[in-house]
Amino acid sequence: MSAAQIDTATFSTSSAKMEEFPVYEATIGRPAIGISSLFSQGYTTFDPGYFSTAVCESSITSIQGDIGELLYRGYPIDELAERYTFPAISQLLLTGTLSVDAGALEYANDLDARSAVPQPLTKLIAAMPQDAHPMAMLMSAVAALEGFYPELCDVHDPDSRLQAAKLLIALIPKLAILCAQRSRGEQVAPSMTSSTSYSGSFLQGLRQSDEIVNPTFEHAIDKILTVHADHELNASTATVRAVGSTGANLFASIAAGIAALWGPLHGGANEACLKMLRLMGSEEHVDQYVRRAKDPDDHFKLMGFGHRVYKNYDPRAKIMRTVCQDVLSELGRDDEPLLKLATKLEKIALEDPYFVERKLYPNVDFYSGITQNALGIEDHFFTVVFAVARTTGWASHWLEMHETAQTRICRPRQIYVGETRRNTPDPASTTRS
Ligand code: SDX
Repeated sequence: MSAAQIDTATFSTSSAKMEEFPVYEATIGRPAIGISSLFSQGYTTFDPGYFSTAVCESSITSIQGDIGELLYRGYPIDELAERYTFPAISQLLLTGTLSVDAGALEYANDLDARSAVPQPLTKLIAAMPQDAHPMAMLMSAVAALEGFYPELCDVHDPDSRLQAAKLLIALIPKLAILCAQRSRGEQVAPSMTSSTSYSGSFLQGLRQSDEIVNPTFEHAIDKILTVHADHELNASTATVRAVGSTGANLFASIAAGIAALWGPLHGGANEACLKMLRLMGSEEHVDQYVRRAKDPDDHFKLMGFGHRVYKNYDPRAKIMRTVCQDVLSELGRDDEPLLKLATKLEKIALEDPYFVERKLYPNVDFYSGITQNALGIEDHFFTVVFAVARTTGWASHWLEMHETAQTRICRPRQIYVGETRRNTPDPASTTRS
């Protein structure tokens, strides 16, 4: 569906009045001014971090940051998380169809049928340094898939694109499990799991245990995957679209997305948040860290706090907080010091003018680290779990990009502030510096 033009905008400077620009209507969110013709009128825009810049039309996810609303294909995340499991969410994002269990089961079985990791790929992961970050291992394995599935790299064939997406959604949890085995120094080999669900098998494989997954823990990992599945044009999804816009195959595009997600300001924040809480140690140190977070000369930030879009409570953080409490209760750890510390930190920050003025609230990463830690997942695997979930979102956007006629190669402009043209000195005449 294409955005309808509802108005026109005009820009003028002290010396020039530019032609009119179209204003497009979003079904949810701000109208957008189409500025592509600005360049032919002698100007570019300047918008570091794309703060005010939309680069595509999308029907997949909508975030209303001011009210803390997140919709997957129009359905509120809290209602989806309450009523559906991750395979149904994955199918909804990828195809736009929300199946009641039967359809979701068929989708999950379809994924399961594809999820045999090529044996040589197992050797590639086994050859990685054991101390390599698992995100480096996962990125390498995903990029290498091109060599095993060249028939799924024809970006002009809609069926090849969809099969590549479904294959990767099916394989990514298995690849993550192999990376976990490598990271622990264990033999790298596909493991059979007794759990039949996508989420339960993933958790069982990640924890390398063949004990039946506790239903509360299976529910927890399923909600973690659900709330991390997609989130509009975040840095990693924008990266997947940018790489995909060059005509690169899905595996290369999503390997680039994994690289972007790894950063501590993005998907690495859950691992960084748990490190921060451990560093804080106890509640009496919270004030000291809040002071540091507010100090413009201190690069320290409260990890798991703040968001480019949410200027209200991240609805995913609310879901994660409940899941966290459920897992800790199941473990008999209702008074878990890390949770008490996080709760104290959240209370102080939400009452502090610095955070209130800047509308900084806990984001999805604030509670997900404590939850994954309680599930027995090692810290440096939290972002891998995020990548497994976001593979559905990344693939959905990559497919949508290819289905959109107006897609052009991503190539932003710049404001050049370097040297003007100058003569190149003759090397013979230059004095040795
Ligand atoms: C994810 O984009 C997505 O959708 C991402 C994500 C997804 O699902 O894909 O939601 C996942 O990445 C969540 C965010 C995880 N990152 C963190 O928790 C790291 C800590 N948060 C910050 O680094 C920051 O809030 C960002 C990176 C998330 C957002 O950065 P912005 O939008 O560029 O905002 P900014 O850095 O310009 O901050 C505005 C002001 C600044 O102060 P002033 O210069 O106005 O005085 O708020 C301050 C910042 O210093 N600020 C913080 C802060 N976050 C912002 N101060 C202290 N602690 C923080 N966490």
